[in-house]
Amino acid sequence: MPDTGIERILITEEEIARTVARLGDAITTCYAGIDRELVVIGLLRGSFVFMADLIRVIRLPLVVDFLSVSTYGDGTVSSGELRMTKDLEQSIEDRDVLLVEDIVDTGHTFSKVLGLMQARRPRSLKVCTFLDKPSRRTCEVAIDFCGITIPNEFVCGYGLDFAQRYRNLPYVGVLKTD
Ligand code: IMP
Repeated sequence: MPDTGIERILITEEEIARTVARLGDAITTCYAGIDRELVVIGLLRGSFVFMADLIRVIRLPLVVDFLSVSTYGDGTVSSGELRMTKDLEQSIEDRDVLLVEDIVDTGHTFSKVLGLMQARRPRSLKVCTFLDKPSRRTCEVAIDFCGITIPNEFVCGYGLDFAQRYRNLPYVGVLKTD
């Protein structure tokens, strides 16, 4: 078997499926009776795998859009400056918006992005994250729909990367340290 670079599996495919189903139910219940399509916005690139699964278990009319931001610096530490590298394709003014993230770590990225989105005057703005690492938080973020809370470990797979690799793993794993 080829070396995957993964030391151990933290979240199995089965647990991911159960988590996504639970989030889909909660989001469907929360927005029941919505009078226009829900706008589901994925933060690229990490959220794309989770987004693809999540939208298929939300039983509501919806549209999707994507946003890409990058932080200046080496990519492993969230620095102060945030740059939008891909904007939304559509206006979110007066729309019900669900922002989807792969993981909230320090909370820096999400709180900045939330500020940017709020300035566009959506009717409502809620956040959904697949993973949450609360022990690393330096910027408070109110998470409306949270998948799985994990300890302070660097994880990969199911869309999450290390140096752009491992996004295609169907599970979430912890990297070997060497
Ligand atoms: P924050 O601004 O510190 O909350 O960082 C959020 C971003 O950092 C996420 O969208 C991920 O791209 C990246 N990130 C944070 N922790 C991890 C991890 O354990 N594995 C992979 N990416 C991570």
